[in-house]
Amino acid sequence: MAMVQRKLQITNPSSLSLVISLSLLLAISSAKVFFEDRFDDGWESRWVKSEWKKDENLAGEWNYTSGKWNGDANDKGIQTSEDYRFYAISAEFPEFSNKDKTLVFQFSVKHEQKLDCGGGYMKLLSGDVDQKKFGGDTPYSIMFGPDICGYATKKVHAILTYNDTNHLIKKEVPCETDQLSHVYTFVLRPDATYSILIDNEEKQSGSLYSDWDLLPPKKIKDPEAKKPEDWDDKEFISDPEDKKPEGYDDIPKEIPDTDAKKPEDWDDEEDGEWTAPTIPNPEYKGPWNPKKIKNPNYKGKWETPLIDNPEFKDDPELYVFPKLKYVGIELWQVKSGTLFDNVLVSDDPDYAKKLAEETWGKQKDAEKAAFEEAEKKREEEESKDAPVDSDAEDGEDSDDAEADSKEDPSAEVDDDAHDEL
Ligand SMILES: *[C@@H]1O[C@H](CO)[C@@H](O)[C@H](O)[C@H]1NC(C)=O
Ligand SMILES: *[C@@H]1O[C@H](CO)[C@@H](O)[C@H](O)[C@H]1NC(C)=O
Repeated sequence: MAMVQRKLQITNPSSLSLVISLSLLLAISSAKVFFEDRFDDGWESRWVKSEWKKDENLAGEWNYTSGKWNGDANDKGIQTSEDYRFYAISAEFPEFSNKDKTLVFQFSVKHEQKLDCGGGYMKLLSGDVDQKKFGGDTPYSIMFGPDICGYATKKVHAILTYNDTNHLIKKEVPCETDQLSHVYTFVLRPDATYSILIDNEEKQSGSLYSDWDLLPPKKIKDPEAKKPEDWDDKEFISDPEDKKPEGYDDIPKEIPDTDAKKPEDWDDEEDGEWTAPTIPNPEYKGPWNPKKIKNPNYKGKWETPLIDNPEFKDDPELYVFPKLKYVGIELWQVKSGTLFDNVLVSDDPDYAKKLAEETWGKQKDAEKAAFEEAEKKREEEESKDAPVDSDAEDGEDSDDAEADSKEDPSAEVDDDAHDEL
């Protein structure tokens, strides 16, 4: 309601802008929010911590915090707080279908730990999920958000489950890699188009038909088609008019060096008869080849004609997830420190945009300043601790940190991610 009020205040009495304002008002007031959590007090009553990996002592604890640097110390989220741990937590909302609606899935995430291997994505799940058992094997409908591992993986995942199979987006969408909060938004529309936004800026967009392999392709190469026998696909041919010049093959490759002189101390008896060394013959042009000319009969490269794929059956509800009911975080983290906040599931991209502006947008400058302050302090501490004369000690901390997280667990992360796919 707060937003509705604000719109009214800026209403200009001129009739045109009144109409515009009213339509905006309608658009905004019709925004449906299926789930929104800014992690205020009481968040624990909405989120269920899974017992997944507990018996192996590998279930990580969440820290309810605004983090080491932030734009508002009172605005908390949940942060992974133990290294080498699995994390699984979820919240339920009234089941809905996105049929005929736009679906917006958004959250903010900050990797305070300088993430070098781990996920920062969230999931939407459907149907009945035992939240206490929610884990890596729990089927999900959408998995979305950043994933980083080493130098090779720095991308935004957008995995859609269709017909019980997880499909990765085929386009590369780079993610943010710094230690500040960023807002990730996935928009899926009833015309089967989508957009991926980071910090309210569109980074990728397209169609479910082209950017995922959810359905078999519409067109395939005709398996019956054959290149016609008389199809000439040679672009150039030898010029039949071009003839080898007379005596061409008699030109020697090498000729005696006429500048060479018999050395003064050459002794014919001892050294044998002196012959001049040879040098490459400038007249020699290699084996003769006729000139190439454009082939007058060239028909171009033969392409297999495309036909309608008999396997393709369009699904007008390709974009529909009929029983969305949970939002969850399920991660493996080598190094903890990933902080989630401001989770939204809605049908209105404008509402999502406003939420991002009100939260991340308002705080980002102060957060950046706080981060830079924290970095300065850290560097001062480090230079105090480190012996001045040793180069090797200088970057020790960060080197260690990298080495730590690049050991075997990175392989495990990959496995884990792939298991899910
Ligand atoms: C939670 O986060 C705060 C802020 O970064 C930190 O001071 C505190 O030690 C953390 N607590 C745990 C249990 O990790
Ligand atoms: C759904 O999956 C089944 C089993 O893998 C497969 O036979 C069927 O063709 C798939 N349907 C679509 C529309 O992809």
